[in-house]
Amino acid sequence: MSWPGIIEAYRRFLPVSDQTPIITLGEGGTPLLPAPRLAAAIGAKIDLYLKYEGVNPTGSFKDRGMTLAITKAKEEGAEKVICASTGNTSAAAAAYSVRGGMKAYVLIPKGKIALGKLAQAMMHRATILQVQGNFDEALALVTDVSKTYPITLVNSINPYRLQGQKTGAFEVCDDLSEAPTHHFLPVGNAGNITAYWMGYTEYLKEGKITHLPKMMGFQAAGSAPIVLGKIVKHPKTIATAIRIGNPASWKNAELAALESQGKIDMVTDEEIITAYRMIAGLEGIFCEPASAAGVAGVIKLHKRDYFKKGDRVVCTLTGHGLKDADFSLKTSIKETTMVKSKEDLLKSLGF
Ligand code: F0G
Repeated sequence: MSWPGIIEAYRRFLPVSDQTPIITLGEGGTPLLPAPRLAAAIGAKIDLYLKYEGVNPTGSFKDRGMTLAITKAKEEGAEKVICASTGNTSAAAAAYSVRGGMKAYVLIPKGKIALGKLAQAMMHRATILQVQGNFDEALALVTDVSKTYPITLVNSINPYRLQGQKTGAFEVCDDLSEAPTHHFLPVGNAGNITAYWMGYTEYLKEGKITHLPKMMGFQAAGSAPIVLGKIVKHPKTIATAIRIGNPASWKNAELAALESQGKIDMVTDEEIITAYRMIAGLEGIFCEPASAAGVAGVIKLHKRDYFKKGDRVVCTLTGHGLKDADFSLKTSIKETTMVKSKEDLLKSLGF
């Protein structure tokens, strides 16, 4: 039988009943891939794994939360849903709304989302609305409107989103038959780190694991409000997915880091790009730039002798690299060679 999607797979842990109309695209069940070459390349004697969320139906981890948010919206009779987004949430909201026979409205920061994500929202017939400002302003606007008008907010302020996303932690534990020692991931609006922490703590209570991992969240240096301890009015980073200056789950992310004895830290755009290229070039996994922030964090901390031998480290790669193919070409186009003759070709092949 094929993978049924996260709601059926983890029904017992989720707020659904036999009457709930499940809206799914078969999300979740993503691979946890060992990354020995990457670990060796950075010289870390750790057991490194990459949870590849890019293979979800719309190409990011957002599908885990969206299947449940849209399912519950449908159950509650909603006809319209709305979200603010740096791109991936809008792609997922658009796709799952089509699946559920609802209408999606997405508010995005103009010129600051990757083209692939925009294409997804368009193909799934969402109404695309743009703001001149950033994600934070868009989120404030949709939150306000959804409080008074009959339209369901499907950003991660919607509690069903995080309930769905916690299944990422369940899958990691199911695959390893235990929790890892550390879980690294990028932090934008800070929902995912909150959701993973919820998942791990629930699994501990259930007796499925015997310890909790340290939660290690990484923001981009130009968009690092939690690290700096203050709202960033004009967030900047090439990792547009996490270009956020006032995260909705700020306090919960801090709590996850504190309770788990982990940390929220930051990495520069250069560090993100280095990690992004290493993941693709050494492990065969193409993720989008923001997704590499966790691995960039592993590299940064390894340089500071943070890890102990045998640590078991999981990094969530949150989205697919093809979402922002443009960016990958910008960083690697110089490496192509023009072939004008057979001799050129043979020379390039090393013969
Ligand atoms: N990685 C990717 C690829 C993302 O799209 C996001 C968030 C994150 C990491 C950060 O996750 O917000 O839970 O801390 N993208 C949102 C969006 C904001 O609109 O698609 P977070």
